[in-house]
Amino acid sequence: MAPLSNLAVRDIETLVHPYTNLAHVRESGPLVIERGKGVFIYDVNGKAYIEGMAGLWCTALGYDNEELAEAAVQQMRKLPFAHLFSAKSHDPAIELAEKLKEMVPAPTSKVLFCNSGSEANDTQIKLVWYMNNALGRPRKKKIVSRQRAYHGVTIASASLTGLPANQSDFDLPIERILHAACPHHYRHGQEGESEEDFATRLAAELDAMIEREGPDTVAAFIAEPVMGAGGVLVPPKTYFEKIAAVCRRHDVYLIDDEVICGFGRLGTAFGCQALGFRPDSISVAKALTSGYVPMAAVTVPEPMYQALLDESRKIGVFGHGFTYTGHPVAAAVALKTLEIYARERLFDQVAQKAPHFQARLSALGAHPLVGEARGVGLIGAVELVADKASKRSFDATAAVAHLAVRLAEEEGLIVRALFGDAVSLCPPLIITREEIDELFDRLTRALDRTLDWAVRDKLIDSRM
Ligand SMILES: Cc1ncc(COP(=O)(O)O)c(C=O)c1O
Repeated sequence: MAPLSNLAVRDIETLVHPYTNLAHVRESGPLVIERGKGVFIYDVNGKAYIEGMAGLWCTALGYDNEELAEAAVQQMRKLPFAHLFSAKSHDPAIELAEKLKEMVPAPTSKVLFCNSGSEANDTQIKLVWYMNNALGRPRKKKIVSRQRAYHGVTIASASLTGLPANQSDFDLPIERILHAACPHHYRHGQEGESEEDFATRLAAELDAMIEREGPDTVAAFIAEPVMGAGGVLVPPKTYFEKIAAVCRRHDVYLIDDEVICGFGRLGTAFGCQALGFRPDSISVAKALTSGYVPMAAVTVPEPMYQALLDESRKIGVFGHGFTYTGHPVAAAVALKTLEIYARERLFDQVAQKAPHFQARLSALGAHPLVGEARGVGLIGAVELVADKASKRSFDATAAVAHLAVRLAEEEGLIVRALFGDAVSLCPPLIITREEIDELFDRLTRALDRTLDWAVRDKLIDSRM
């Protein structure tokens, strides 16, 4: 192995890396990135990579958008910080709240700003609890999430997350969080069960769960339209309409976590529009600012706002909010981001590019290592399996998806290994058709090399 660079050594001496095997990185060193342009990022040695994950599902406008940089600079010069505590306000936050109210397909009276997806989903839980106390139903507090969901890492949002690594040894989940079944037809659909029948079964299971727990104790259901970090899981057809009906029947507040799907990822402004459901509230983050600065938001419907008002009168203050809630620089960048999305008709452009992206993705379904190639819009994943016919997974210790990701890096492509040996793709929304082709060519070479290795190490019987 090549000796570690000076920067890599300093990194190892100083940083705790999120979502990293901390033992491995001490030996391999980190990949140190220096700059970005378009859909490309460049490491300190000048090597170019297609950023096939838009960073962490966020840099929708790529890496060199001058307008966003200019919006930040101008706001920093004019008013670099202002807050919304104690009845203070400022123009960028007001304007952004107005814009979001216009855009979101949920009944929205007000907007509450946060700084990350985790904070947004934590805030959702707190608001639901607060509202139900205000409404005189203090028992209605349980929140239903789903296995393999990803809603963040703070104590409450990590409890909503349904992935083992976020809970093991962190003493999570907290109480009053339930996990319904994961809507992944490839893995959990029964022999001969159609997607629609699978969706009907999942809705019936949710209904039974709520009945068992007691509808007067179940407050909310939270879901990503397409599950991201859980493996890019596209729900079975008719899933959300059936789930939403169950929620309505039991007066369960439906929270739509649009942190990945929001702002065009599925070819519609919001993921719920592509998948055909109308939530009570939406969490957004990431592409709200194209990832250039941290910002997130939660939408508040009028009945909830009335409950917050009542509590505020009773307690004297609405006791929630962050120092950086509605940060003016973040709000200015978000406003510019939304302006560019509208001006460039970016969501329509995604819808136009998606069929080509999805065609290249589905073609990978024929690769001997790929059990399922799945996606919608400009998001997708391939799930690597040891045996296609039986869907047998590789032994987790073989870390096959991690190897594929490393080989993709060698080929000049950033992708990400997710739960269940899924290799995910979520490029900047500005990616061109030619760049999509280049992305898939590089990924195919990486998968071919992974296959060679799997055959050599006898992890797979043959090349089929
Ligand atoms: C759907 C979803 N919700 C919430 C989060 C958490 O966001 P953050 O990392 O900004 O806290 C993420 C992060 O990837 C996400 O994908």
